[in-house]
Amino acid sequence: MLSMAGKVAIVSGAGSVGPGWGNGKATATLLARQGASVFLLDINDDAVRETQSIIEKEGGTCATHRCDMTLAADVQEMVQACLDRFKRIDILVNNVGGSAPGDPVSMSEEVWDRQIDFNLKTAFLGCKYVLPVMVEQGKGAIVNIASVAGLRNDFMSGRSHVGYSASKAGIIQLSRSVAGTYAKKGIRVNTVVPGLMHTPLVEFRLARAVGGNDAAKLIEARNAAVPMGHMGDAWDVAHAVLFLASDEARFITATEIIVDGGSTATMP
Ligand SMILES: NC(=O)c1ccc[n+]([C@@H]2O[C@H](COP(=O)([O-])OP(=O)(O)OC[C@H]3O[C@@H](n4cnc5c(N)ncnc54)[C@H](O)[C@@H]3O)[C@@H](O)[C@H]2O)c1
Repeated sequence: MLSMAGKVAIVSGAGSVGPGWGNGKATATLLARQGASVFLLDINDDAVRETQSIIEKEGGTCATHRCDMTLAADVQEMVQACLDRFKRIDILVNNVGGSAPGDPVSMSEEVWDRQIDFNLKTAFLGCKYVLPVMVEQGKGAIVNIASVAGLRNDFMSGRSHVGYSASKAGIIQLSRSVAGTYAKKGIRVNTVVPGLMHTPLVEFRLARAVGGNDAAKLIEARNAAVPMGHMGDAWDVAHAVLFLASDEARFITATEIIVDGGSTATMP
């Protein structure tokens, strides 16, 4: 069940912003545990080496590659490097992304452009250079990581991050659009939509950016905002990615799994 034996998976943003488990790091580790050879992409060498060392200590197979997913030349070169190393590409997980605060008035044009590049162009470029390989193979699965910020009104989250909301909504539709175009070629494209997750991001970025440097208070507030009474974690995202990437999901394409403890469905 959910075996990845013999498969090659690329995971972008396979490190983590701080100690602990980010979504890409947990996803890469889980895919390796299920038998995949994993090509770990990141711009932070130390972060991705930590993921590599965890996978290798567990007896898994992986390789790291420095790749800025916002740069077409890097992504194109990375695809060739993965083929040189592992000969094929069965799975692509486009995981790079993150939010910056602001509404259209308070956000500068530069931050807007960077948000679109960071959250949306990264997935576009991943698809652009991996799809031809999957077409050649006649099979492949792409899983893009969005956010509930792409589904709900910023008002509901209590803060505005218009570039993040717009680009994560774009991820959902990018997945559906590519899925439709490539369905007959044996390639499935889906999205995982995480809600409030307790990843290192909370302590290492959000506490500073929106939590008044009080991580404990921010964690309490995020837990209270979820119908289940607590945030999810990176493994909840990783398990949803594993399923969508697996052969068991062979009839599932152009859709989303929302991993949010009930938040979206219970919003007024
Ligand atoms: N953490 C959450 O609560 C949460 C909630 C909803 C959605 N998400 C989404 O999940 C994804 C992962 O978030 P996270 O918080 O686990 O990750 P993270 O912030 O810990 O980052 C993962 C890795 O991405 C790398 N990275 C950054 N820019 C890159 C680039 N241009 N090219 C390649 N690598 C790059 C970083 O160096 C880092 O090691 C993002 O798309 C995020 O929007 C996260």
